[in-house]
Amino acid sequence: MSKLPMARLDRLLANLGYGSRREVHALVRKGAVIFDGAAVSDGGLKVPVVADLPSRMTIEGAPVDPPAPLTLLMHKPLGVVCSHREPGRSVYELLPRRWRARTPGLSTIGRLDLDTTGLLLITDDGPLLHRVISPRSHVAKRYVASLARPLRGDEGELFAAGTLMLESETEPLAPAVLEPLSPTKARLTITEGRYHQVRRMFAAVGNHVEALHRDQIGGLTLPDALGPGEWRILTLEEQAAIFA
Ligand code: URA
Repeated sequence: MSKLPMARLDRLLANLGYGSRREVHALVRKGAVIFDGAAVSDGGLKVPVVADLPSRMTIEGAPVDPPAPLTLLMHKPLGVVCSHREPGRSVYELLPRRWRARTPGLSTIGRLDLDTTGLLLITDDGPLLHRVISPRSHVAKRYVASLARPLRGDEGELFAAGTLMLESETEPLAPAVLEPLSPTKARLTITEGRYHQVRRMFAAVGNHVEALHRDQIGGLTLPDALGPGEWRILTLEEQAAIFA
């Protein structure tokens, strides 16, 4: 039988952003930490670090935040950046404030531009992040691009050839799949994640992307029920779907 990962309560709650270990001890002293129905009296209590901890522990009456590893699925809205450092409102500001103090920290799996909407994954699981973005995993990313000019007709062939060279790059792009949806709208599936890749691909064929939306990563599709700015925890089945 495999042993459950255990952690000291004070360390776990400090890593979840509830404050310093001293502040966590203060929460314990005032009876604010309930575990399996009873107030915790010892900040050094060993507790299991398991995904269902929020159903067993409350802090000041609210379920404890989910422990690591945690992966979120977000419908990124327009006008937010995918960076902790860049100026402007970031996707992390759409999450509970306390989560900014989590250790390990949350990062986006790849980035979407300020003006791109759609499916974004955010995780504190380093191995998962690397597996999704590694070129060796060949995880496809699907976008819908709205274009300033009508498609010429030869873009699909050019993108599929695996020879298209973007400006100031030395390696041609891997083959990509274009599906025209209307004269000025197309679905594009790519397996790489180069800087502004989709916008630069259309620029390379004399067009301009006016709006860009990602609706799929691997076999995981953005759920219709999730509106712009909304997010939820990714299930294990959804995580597996990325690589299906
Ligand atoms: N390609 C782009 O040009 N922008 C994105 O946000 C994602 C892919």
